[in-house]
Amino acid sequence: MSLLWSLLVAALTISTASAGDEAALLAFKARLGDGAMVSWNSSVHFCSWEGVMCSRRHQERVVALSLHGSALTGELSPALGNLTFLRTLNLSSNGLHGEIPASLGRLRRLRILELSDNLLSGTLPVNLSSCISLTFMALDNNKLGGRIPPVLGERLTSLTRIWLLNNSFTGPIPASLANLSDLQYLVLSKNQFVGPIPEGFGSIQSMEYFFVTANNLSGMIPPSFYNLSSLKGLGVGGNMLHGSIPDDIGNKFPIMQILDLDTNQFTGTIPSSLSNISHLTTLHLWGNRLTGYVPPTLGRLEALEILDLSANMLESYDSEGLQFITSLANCSQLRWLALGSNYFEGQLPGSIVNFSRTLEKFWIVDNRINGSIPQDIGNLVGLHLLTLAINYMSGVIPESIGKLENLIELQVYNNNLSGLLPSSLGNLSHLSRLYADSNNLEGPIPASLGKLKNIFVLDLAKNYRLNGSIPKDIFELSSLSWYLDLSYNALSGTLPSEVGSLTNLNTLTLSGNQLSGKIPEGIQNCIVMEWLSLDNNLFEGSIPQSLKNMKRLTVLNLTMNKLSGNIPDVLGSIRNLQELYLAHNNLSGLIPTVLMNLTVLWGLDLSYNDLLGEVPKGGVFGNLTSKSVTGNKQLCGGIPQLHLVPCSTDPVRGSKTHKWKGLLISLAATGAILLLISVIVIIWKLKKRQKSQAQPITTEEQFPRVSYQALFRGTSEFSESNLLGKGRYGAVYRCILHDDDSPVAVKVFDLQQSGSSKSFEAECESLRRVRHRYLIKIITCCSSIDPQGQDFKALVLDLMPNGSLDGWLHPKENMYTLNNTLSLSQRLDIAVQVVDALDYLHNHCQPPIVHCDVKPGNILLGEDMSA
Ligand SMILES: *[C@@H]1O[C@H](CO)[C@@H](O)[C@H](O)[C@H]1NC(C)=O
Ligand SMILES: *[C@@H]1O[C@H](CO)[C@@H](O)[C@H](O)[C@H]1NC(C)=O
Ligand SMILES: *[C@@H]1O[C@H](CO)[C@@H](O)[C@H](O)[C@H]1NC(C)=O
Ligand SMILES: *[C@@H]1O[C@H](CO)[C@@H](O)[C@H](O)[C@H]1NC(C)=O
Ligand SMILES: *[C@@H]1O[C@H](CO)[C@@H](O)[C@H](O)[C@H]1NC(C)=O
Ligand SMILES: *[C@@H]1O[C@H](CO)[C@@H](O)[C@H](O)[C@H]1NC(C)=O
Ligand SMILES: *[C@@H]1O[C@H](CO)[C@@H](O)[C@H](O)[C@H]1NC(C)=O
Ligand SMILES: *[C@@H]1O[C@H](CO)[C@@H](O)[C@H](O)[C@H]1NC(C)=O
Ligand SMILES: *[C@@H]1O[C@H](CO)[C@@H](O)[C@H](O)[C@H]1NC(C)=O
Ligand SMILES: *[C@@H]1O[C@H](CO)[C@@H](O)[C@H](O)[C@H]1NC(C)=O
Ligand SMILES: *[C@@H]1O[C@H](CO)[C@@H](O)[C@H](O)[C@H]1NC(C)=O
Repeated sequence: MSLLWSLLVAALTISTASAGDEAALLAFKARLGDGAMVSWNSSVHFCSWEGVMCSRRHQERVVALSLHGSALTGELSPALGNLTFLRTLNLSSNGLHGEIPASLGRLRRLRILELSDNLLSGTLPVNLSSCISLTFMALDNNKLGGRIPPVLGERLTSLTRIWLLNNSFTGPIPASLANLSDLQYLVLSKNQFVGPIPEGFGSIQSMEYFFVTANNLSGMIPPSFYNLSSLKGLGVGGNMLHGSIPDDIGNKFPIMQILDLDTNQFTGTIPSSLSNISHLTTLHLWGNRLTGYVPPTLGRLEALEILDLSANMLESYDSEGLQFITSLANCSQLRWLALGSNYFEGQLPGSIVNFSRTLEKFWIVDNRINGSIPQDIGNLVGLHLLTLAINYMSGVIPESIGKLENLIELQVYNNNLSGLLPSSLGNLSHLSRLYADSNNLEGPIPASLGKLKNIFVLDLAKNYRLNGSIPKDIFELSSLSWYLDLSYNALSGTLPSEVGSLTNLNTLTLSGNQLSGKIPEGIQNCIVMEWLSLDNNLFEGSIPQSLKNMKRLTVLNLTMNKLSGNIPDVLGSIRNLQELYLAHNNLSGLIPTVLMNLTVLWGLDLSYNDLLGEVPKGGVFGNLTSKSVTGNKQLCGGIPQLHLVPCSTDPVRGSKTHKWKGLLISLAATGAILLLISVIVIIWKLKKRQKSQAQPITTEEQFPRVSYQALFRGTSEFSESNLLGKGRYGAVYRCILHDDDSPVAVKVFDLQQSGSSKSFEAECESLRRVRHRYLIKIITCCSSIDPQGQDFKALVLDLMPNGSLDGWLHPKENMYTLNNTLSLSQRLDIAVQVVDALDYLHNHCQPPIVHCDVKPGNILLGEDMSA
C-alpha cells in the first residue's frame, strides 16, 4: 500500500514536472527572436525537440539543452530556471542578449554552463553560486561586466574550468577563487581586472592554464606560482606587473608549453634555465625591460615555435651576444622569431640560413646589426615576413632572395645596403610590401619588379643613386594600392602615360628625381589617388586639365619644377584638395578665383612663380594658416597679412568689405548726394601740379578698392530699381556689395559730362580729407574700365536710410502724420548739426570748403534722424 502510494506520488510529481519542463522550454522559445525553433512544436514530443535531451530515468525531465551556433537571438527566459534536472546548458555562438537570469541559480544539477560568444550583458548573478554542481563555466566573448561575486569561489567547489575571456569584468580577481581546489583552467584575459594576482592560486595543484592577459593587474607574480609544477600555460601579458624572472624558473614548470609575460615591466635577465622547459612552444617576453644577453642555450627548446623577445633592452656587445641566434637553428618547429627593438649589435650570423624551413616570420628590425645579408638567405623558403630594417647592414641584397617564394613582406629600409636591386626580386610573386628605402642602392630599377602581381606597397625612396627611367612595367602593377614611393633618387626620363594604369593607387611620390617632360594627361586615370607628389623634378609644360578627374586628391605637390602656363581653373573642382603646392615654377596669369571654392584647402603655396593680378581674399584666401604667394612680383592685394602692395590698376574682382565699415562716418540716400558732392567747391585750390601725381597713390592707399563687377552685381546691373537719383554729373544707385553687408550708395560719374578723371581723383582726395560727424564720407572709390572698354569712375558712400530733409518737410503725399513729421526738437537738432558741419567746412577743414548749394534736398538724415 505504501509502495503503491509512493509510486502514485512519484508519477504525479513527474507529470506535473514534465508539464513544467515543456512549458519552460516554450517560455524559453517565446523570448527568442521570431522564427526561432520552429521545429519545437506539439507534433513531436518535447524530449525529441532539437537540442533537447531528457533524462533516461526521469523521462520527462530535460537534462541537456544544447543549441550551439543556432542563430538564436533574443533574451534568456528566467523559465530556464525551472529545468531543474538540467545538467548541460550550451547556448554558445548565438546572438543572445540581455542578462543572465538569476533563476539559473535553481539549477543545482547544472554541470556545464556554456554561454560564450553571445551579446550577454549585465553582471554575473550571485545566484549562480547555488549551481553547486557546476564544473564548467564559459562566458567568453560577451559584454558582461561588474565584479565577480566572491561567493562563487566559496560555493562552486566543483569548478574545474572558468572562461571569462573578453568581457568587461572589473574589480579585483576574488581571492576566494583560490578555494576552487580542482581548478584546471582559469582564463580571465581581456577584462579590466585590477589589483594583484591572489597568492592563493599558487596552491591549486591541479592548475594547468592560468591566463589573465590584457587586464590591469599590478604587483608581482606571487612566489607561490612557482610551485605549480602542473602548469602548462601561464599568461600574464599585458598588465602592469613587475619583478624579475626567477633564475630557476626552468626547473619549476617541467611541462609548461606557453609562457607569456609580454608588455609588463619585468626587469633583469632572461634566465638560461628557461632552456630546460623542454615542452615550451611559445615564449612571449616582448615589451618588458629585460637586459643582458639572451642565453645561447635557448636552442635546446626543441618544441619552440614562437620566440618573441622584441622591445626590451637585450644586448650583444660581442660575438657571443648573438650566439643564441645560431643555437635557434636547432629549433626545428620555429615559426616566429621576433628580436626587434633591442640593443643587439654585431654581424647577423650567417647561420640564420640554417633556420628551420618552418620559419615564417623573422624580425630583427631596429637594432644595431651590421654585416651583410647572408648569401643563402634564399634557403629560408618558409619565410612570409623578413624584416631587417633600421640596422647598419651593408653589402648587397643577395640574388638568392628571389627564392623566398612565400615572402609577403620584405623590409630592409634604413640600412646601408648598396649595389643593384636584384632582378630576382621579381620572382617573389606573393610579395605585397617591399620597403627598401633609405639605403645606398644604385643603378636601374629592375623591370622585373613589374612581375610583382600582388604588390601593395613599393618603397624605394631615398637611395639617391637609383637611376635610369622608371620601368613602364611598374605602372602596370594594378595591385599597387597603398603607395609607390620612388622619391629622392636619380631617376630620369619622362613619366609615361601608363602611370594611369595605377588605378588603385592612393599615394604616388616621385619627388626629388630628374623626371622631365610633361605631366601626362593619363594620370587622370589614377582615380583613387589622394596624394600626388611630383615636386622637385624637371617637369615642364602646363598643369594638366585632366587632374580634375582625380576627385579624391587631397595633396598635390608640384613644387620646384619648370611648369608654365596658367593655374588651371579646374583645380577648383577638386573638392577634397587640402594642400596645393605649386611654388618654384614658371606659372603665370591670374590666381583662379575658383580656388576659393576649395573649402577644405588649408595649405597653399604659390610662391616664386610669375603670377599677376589680385590675390583673392574670399574663401580660403581669407585664412592664413599656411599660405604663401611671395616671390610673384606682379601680385597685389590679398589679405593684409600677405603684405602685398595694393592693386595699382583696378582689381577685376570683388573683395571683402568688412574693414570698410570702419571708414564710414555718414550716410547718403537720394539723388541729392550727387549734388552734394558735385557742388563742393574747393576754395583753397587743389593745385594739380602739386598733387596730381601724389593723389592717386594716396587715394589708393587710403581706400580699399572695389571692382566694377562688384558694383555691377551689387546694383543688379545698375538697374532702375536701385536708382536713387540722377543729376548732371551722373547717377546714384543703391548697392549691396556683399550679401551680409548693409547697403551703400554708389555715385557713378558720367565722364562725358564731368570731364577728366582727374577731377574724380580730386574729389576723392578732397572728400577723403573731410572728416566730420555730420558730413558724408567716402567709403571707397572705383576707377576701372567697364566691359565696353570705357573708363568707369564711381564713389561709394554709405546709404542714408531716412532720405533728405526736403522729403520730410514736403512729403510727396502731402499728408502730415505723426510718422512723417519732424518734431520741433528734431528740427532744432538738424539746424544745429547743419551749422556745425558748415562751420567745420569753412573754418576747420584743410583746405577750407564752401558748400554752394545748402538746401533741404542736400541735407540727408541718418537712422537717428541726425543730419
Ligand atoms: C516556473 O516555475 C515557477 C515556480 O515553480 C512557476 O510559477 C512558473 O509558472 C514556471 N514557469 C514556467 C514557464 O513554467
Ligand atoms: C514541427 O516540427 C517538425 C520537426 O520536429 C517539422 O518537421 C514540422 O514541419 C514542424 N511543424 C510545423 C507546423 O512547424
Ligand atoms: C557546446 O556545443 C558545441 C556544439 O555541439 C560543442 O562543440 C561544444 O564543445 C559544447 N560545449 C561544451 C562546453 O560542451
Ligand atoms: C536568488 O537567490 C536567492 C537566495 O537563494 C533567492 O531568494 C532568490 O529567489 C533567487 N532569485 C531568483 C531569481 O531565483
Ligand atoms: C570580444 O567580444 C565581443 C563581443 O562582446 C566580440 O564582438 C569580439 O569579436 C570579441 N573579441 C575577440 C577578439 O574575440
Ligand atoms: C575561501 O577563500 C576565502 C578567502 O581566500 C577564505 O576566507 C574562506 O575561508 C575560504 N572558504 C572556504 C570554504 O574555503
Ligand atoms: C590601470 O590602473 C591604473 C591604476 O592602477 C589606472 O591609472 C589606469 O587608468 C588603468 N588603466 C586601464 C586601461 O584601466
Ligand atoms: C611550495 O610548496 C612547498 C611544498 O609543497 C611549500 O613548502 C612551499 O611553502 C611552497 N612555496 C610557496 C611560495 O608557496
Ligand atoms: C612639397 O614639395 C616640397 C619641395 O620638394 C617639399 O619641400 C615639401 O615638403 C612638399 N610638401 C609635401 C606636403 O609633400
Ligand atoms: C564655385 O562656387 C560657386 C558658388 O558656390 C559656383 O557657382 C561655381 O560654379 C563654383 N566653381 C567651380 C569651378 O566649381
Ligand atoms: C583657418 O584655418 C584653420 C585650419 O583649417 C581653422 O582652424 C581656423 O578656424 C580658420 N580660421 C578662420 C578665421 O577661418
